[in-house]
Amino acid sequence: MRRLGFMVAIVATFSCLMAAQSISFDEGRKVWLLKTQQSSYAMGVGPDGQLEHLYWGGPLWRAQDVPAATNKKDISSFDPREMLENEEFPGWGGKRYYEPALKITRADGDRDLVLHYQSQATKGDELDITLKDINDDVEAVLRYRVYADVGVISRWATITNRTKQSFTVERAQSATWYMPPGDGYRLTYLSGRWAAETQINQEPIHEGMKVLESRLGHTGHNLNPWFAIDAGSADEEHGGVYFGALAWSGNWRISVEQTPYKQVRVTGGFNTFDFGYPLKPGQSLETPVFYAGFAADGFGGASRLLHNMEREYIAPGGLQSRLRPVLYNSWEATTFDVNQPGQEALAEKAAKLGVELFVMDDGWFGERNTDTAGLGDWVVNPKKFPNGLGPLIKRVNDLGMDFGLWVEPEMVNPDSDLYRKHPDWVMNFKGRPRSELRNQLVLNLARDDVRDYLFTVLDKLASENNIRYFKWDMNRTFAEPGWPEVAPEEQKELWVKYVNNLYDILARLRAKHPKLEIESCSGGGGRVDLGVLRYVDEFWASDNTEAFDRLRIQEGFSEAYGAKFMSAWVTDVPNMNGRSTPLQYRFLDAMQGALGIGANLNKWTSEDEQLATKMIALDKQIREVVQMGDLYRLLSPRTNDTTANEYVSKNADKAVLFAFRHSQEYNTPPPTIRLRGLDGKSVYRLESVDRKLTAPTTEVSGAYLMEHGLDVKLTGDFDSTAVVITRATQ
Ligand code: DGJ
Repeated sequence: MRRLGFMVAIVATFSCLMAAQSISFDEGRKVWLLKTQQSSYAMGVGPDGQLEHLYWGGPLWRAQDVPAATNKKDISSFDPREMLENEEFPGWGGKRYYEPALKITRADGDRDLVLHYQSQATKGDELDITLKDINDDVEAVLRYRVYADVGVISRWATITNRTKQSFTVERAQSATWYMPPGDGYRLTYLSGRWAAETQINQEPIHEGMKVLESRLGHTGHNLNPWFAIDAGSADEEHGGVYFGALAWSGNWRISVEQTPYKQVRVTGGFNTFDFGYPLKPGQSLETPVFYAGFAADGFGGASRLLHNMEREYIAPGGLQSRLRPVLYNSWEATTFDVNQPGQEALAEKAAKLGVELFVMDDGWFGERNTDTAGLGDWVVNPKKFPNGLGPLIKRVNDLGMDFGLWVEPEMVNPDSDLYRKHPDWVMNFKGRPRSELRNQLVLNLARDDVRDYLFTVLDKLASENNIRYFKWDMNRTFAEPGWPEVAPEEQKELWVKYVNNLYDILARLRAKHPKLEIESCSGGGGRVDLGVLRYVDEFWASDNTEAFDRLRIQEGFSEAYGAKFMSAWVTDVPNMNGRSTPLQYRFLDAMQGALGIGANLNKWTSEDEQLATKMIALDKQIREVVQMGDLYRLLSPRTNDTTANEYVSKNADKAVLFAFRHSQEYNTPPPTIRLRGLDGKSVYRLESVDRKLTAPTTEVSGAYLMEHGLDVKLTGDFDSTAVVITRATQ
C-alpha cells in the first residue's frame, strides 16, 4: 500500500513537471514543441537557417517525434523550394511569392529581406526567437506565449532596426499559421454591417486568397478579426477546428491563402493597405498579438477554449473580476433628452426591478441636444444638470446602484468649443475636405497632446464623480487620415499610433481608478476584438436590440467572444424590423450575455415590472453559469425554427438551457433538445421558469438529458423558455 502511495506521488510529480513544461526544445536538431492540453505546435530551424513550421494539431508530448526542418527541392524553375518550406515568419525577399510577414524598403531602395535564425530565449511559457536578415541587422523577434490550460498560443513580433540607416516597414504581420497540408479546408468567419454584426459565413478554401480586413481605422462592423478553419465537415461538437483571433482595434488584416502546393496559410497583423512605418536606427515596431488554437471537438470546443482564454488571461482582472452586474441604460428611452428629474425617475424604477448599474447615455454634456453639436465638450450641461452630476449620482448610489456614464472621447462635432479652439486636432489632409459622418470628425489620437488631453478630461470626470463605469463609444469610420504636423514619411504612423494611444488612455484610466469599468462600444459592435478586451469589461455587441435578429448576432459573437463580455439589453417593441416579441423572449435572449435593460421604464405596465423583477432575480441566480461556464450551442437560429443554448458550470453542478421558437409551422412540435456537458451519472433537478417543460419528472439523470434530451412546449411565434438544471445527487 505504502509503495503504491509512493508510486502515485512519483506519477503526480512527473505529470506536474510535464504539465509545467509547456515549451520543449530539442537543441541538437533545433526543434521547438509548444504544448497545451488540447494541442501542440512545432517549428524548427532548417539547414539554411530559416525557421520552418513543422506541426499544428492535437497534443504531442515529445519534441523528438517531430522531424527536423529540411530544405526541399525546387520543383521547377517556376516553383522554388522556398514556396514549400513553410516559414514561420517569411521576409519578402529571395524566391518567396506567398504573403510575407515582413516587408521593408531600405534608404537606398534595397527591399530584399531573408530572415534566418539567430538565437532563442525561453522562460516558463514564453519563447522568443530572434531572426535576422542574412546581410544586415534588420531584426525580428518572434514572441510565442503558451496558455497550456486553455489550449491557446499567442504570437507577435518585434521588428527592430539595428542597422545604421533608417528603413520603412511596409508590411508587418504578427504570425503566419499553417494548416497541415491538404485540400478541402473550409473557412468560417464573421461579417456584417451596422446593426447586423457577427453573421456567420462558411465557404470552401480554394487556391488563391481571401482577405478579411478593416481599412476603417477601427475594428469595424463589416468583418471581425477572427477565423476558424476545419477540414470541411466539423460541426458544433465534432471535428478538428483551427481558430485564431487578432488583438487589434485598428486597421487589421487576415489573409487566408491556399498555395498551388496544397498549403493553407493564414497571415495576420497590421493591414498592409496604406501602411508605412519608418524605423530609425534603434527603433522598434511591435505587431498586434495573434491568438490561435486547435480544438478536436468542433466549433463549440473552439469557442469554449477562446472564452476560457479571454476570461482567464485577456480581460482585466482575469478570473478575479466580478460578474457583470445587471445594467440599465437610458439611450433608447430618452436619446439626447436627458436631465436630472428624468434620469432620477428612471433610476428609481430601475432600482425597484433589481438593476445594479445605472448608465446615463449620450446628451449630458455641452450643447449636446442632438447629434449636431457638443461632442468634445465634456462639461456637464447646466440646464440639464444645474448642480452637476453629483446629485444624480448620489440618488443612484442611495438607491443601491453604481453609476455609469457615456463618453465618446475620440470625436468632435465641428459645432463644439473644442473644435473651435483646436481645429488642427482632427485628422485631416491640409486644404482637403474634412468629411463628416453623423456630423462629427475624428480627433487625431495619434498625437500625444490629444491623447494627454483626453486622459486628463476623463481622469477629471472619474476623480470628481463616483463613476463606476464608462461606456466608451466611437461612432464613425475614419476619413482623410492625414497628420500634417509630422514629416510626410511619418504620417502613415497614424494608423498604429492612434490605436496604441487609445490603449494607453484606457490602461492609465484603469490604473488610476482601479474600480472603474469600461464598455467598448462603437455604434454597437464596431470595436469588438481581443486588443481592446485587455482594457474593457464588456462589449456592446450591436445597436440592433431587436430580439430575433439579436439571436443570430449573438450566435456569431459567441463563436469568438464569451458571454461575460456581451452586453445585451431588453428594449421596447416594436423595435427594428417593426417586430414585436414578448417581454419574456427579450429577457431570456439578453440573459445569455451580461443582462441590461434599455427600455423606457416609464411606459412599462405593472405586469411588465412584475415579469422584469422575476427575470432579473433569475438572472442573478444563473449569471455565474452563463458568464463563467461553458457554452453549448445546441440549435442554431440559422438552421432551425428553434434556437437553444446551454451554459454549464465548470464542475457540471449547474446548467441553464435557453430555448426560443421563432415561428411554428404546420403544427410541428419543437425538436427534442439534447443537452451537453453534464455528468451522465448524476441526477439533475429541473426547474422551468414557466412550466413549459414536458418532462414526466423533475429529477432526471445527466445521461437521459444528454442522450434523449428535453422536450419543451414552444408554440406559435416567438415563444421562449428557460430551464435551470441543478445536480441533485452524484
Ligand atoms: C451609439 C451606441 O451604440 C448607442 O448605444 C448610443 O450610445 C448612441 N451611440 C449614443 O449616441
